[in-house]
Amino acid sequence: MGKKEPGMKGSVVLLGVGQVGRSLLHLISGVNARTKADSRLNVIGIADSHAALLDDDALSQEILSEAAGIKETGGTLEQMKSVSPISELASALSPGTILVDVTASSNTGPLLETALSRGCGVVLANKRPLASEWEKAKVFFSHPHVRYEATVGAGLPVISTLRYLISCNDSFSSIKGVLSGTLGYMCSEMERGSSYSQALLSARDLGYTEPDPREDLMGTDVARKALILARSAGWPLEPDKVDVEPMFPDSLSQVTVDEFLREINTLDEEYAMRTSEAQTAGKSLRYVAKIDRTGAAVGLSQEEKGGALGSLSGAENAVIFRTRFYNDVPLTVCGPGAGPLVTAAGVLGDILDLNVHMRKDR
Ligand SMILES: NC(=O)c1ccc[n+]([C@@H]2O[C@H](COP(=O)([O-])OP(=O)(O)OC[C@H]3O[C@@H](n4cnc5c(N)ncnc54)[C@H](OP(=O)(O)O)[C@@H]3O)[C@@H](O)[C@H]2O)c1
Repeated sequence: MGKKEPGMKGSVVLLGVGQVGRSLLHLISGVNARTKADSRLNVIGIADSHAALLDDDALSQEILSEAAGIKETGGTLEQMKSVSPISELASALSPGTILVDVTASSNTGPLLETALSRGCGVVLANKRPLASEWEKAKVFFSHPHVRYEATVGAGLPVISTLRYLISCNDSFSSIKGVLSGTLGYMCSEMERGSSYSQALLSARDLGYTEPDPREDLMGTDVARKALILARSAGWPLEPDKVDVEPMFPDSLSQVTVDEFLREINTLDEEYAMRTSEAQTAGKSLRYVAKIDRTGAAVGLSQEEKGGALGSLSGAENAVIFRTRFYNDVPLTVCGPGAGPLVTAAGVLGDILDLNVHMRKDR
């Protein structure tokens, strides 16, 4: 393949037009409205799992709004005029372009690697490429043109804090955190007296859970975040070094979603007991990730009531860094850790940062 010409300044290709992708398009349009023409972000490509829309100069605001409207109502980009196959996305990857992965796909790795090999930047809210086996994932942790703030704690400055500590030559002894808004919400509801089934159904009603809530309850999403934190701290753990305690039994893993939801009240007694054991010990039950250089454990844990994790309420996240400099009193980052808008804000921050960084490199 011939050498690609440098992309226009601020060119962005977006993989995924779901909740986060649509919020991001909205935020980009807001930033562009108050930015000089030569500093704007130009969205030159977008894709869902079916098709892509491409324009070398920039997709117009009208086209982007129409695409977002179609996706909002459950349609596909195939319904738009002048669509291209997803395989043509690679043609938009010129040096300096930023490829943004806001899918939840395991298959975007090769395109992300192509982007890096062509001098593009990569921004991820998708955890999967970062949490696969180390041999495949390591390029994303070592390349200067990769950002992934929104993968842990959504828009909270978790990864940037970690990178700042590393740049100051600090070293980590452990990282601990509540990294799932959904499971955090359930734990704090159970602490307030709700049963497991009530807490789960209410999390579902609030839109906190995946359509199949077992995807949250099995803890693998938290395990991916734990791996990302570990690897960012310089501990190249493999996925099998993360012990995961799911919040439902194996016997309910194969049934349909409806059957699962019919059975969840059979779990009320067990989780009421776990919650009350913690309370009797003067603690709060939380779903916690504990990480150090040897491995990670993800599961329910009794935490100090007034402490950084025990005092969390609702869907809040917190990450506690214990380091050489922050040893007696650790450094804690805490706040809302989920939601399409704050996640998109984290992604936008990464795009703007990378854009400045890559301009300096040119
Ligand atoms: N929502 C949050 O609060 C939050 C917080 C932190 C991180 N995240 C992460 O952000 C990512 C996006 O979340 P979301 O809530 O926006 O998910 P979502 O609503 O399910 O959207 C995912 C989008 O990705 C598209 N997609 C899937 N595979 C693709 C592929 N191979 N190529 C191009 N597009 C593809 C889907 O297309 P179709 O519509 O055609 O299926 C859909 O448009 C996930 O990795 C999630 O874990 C989300």
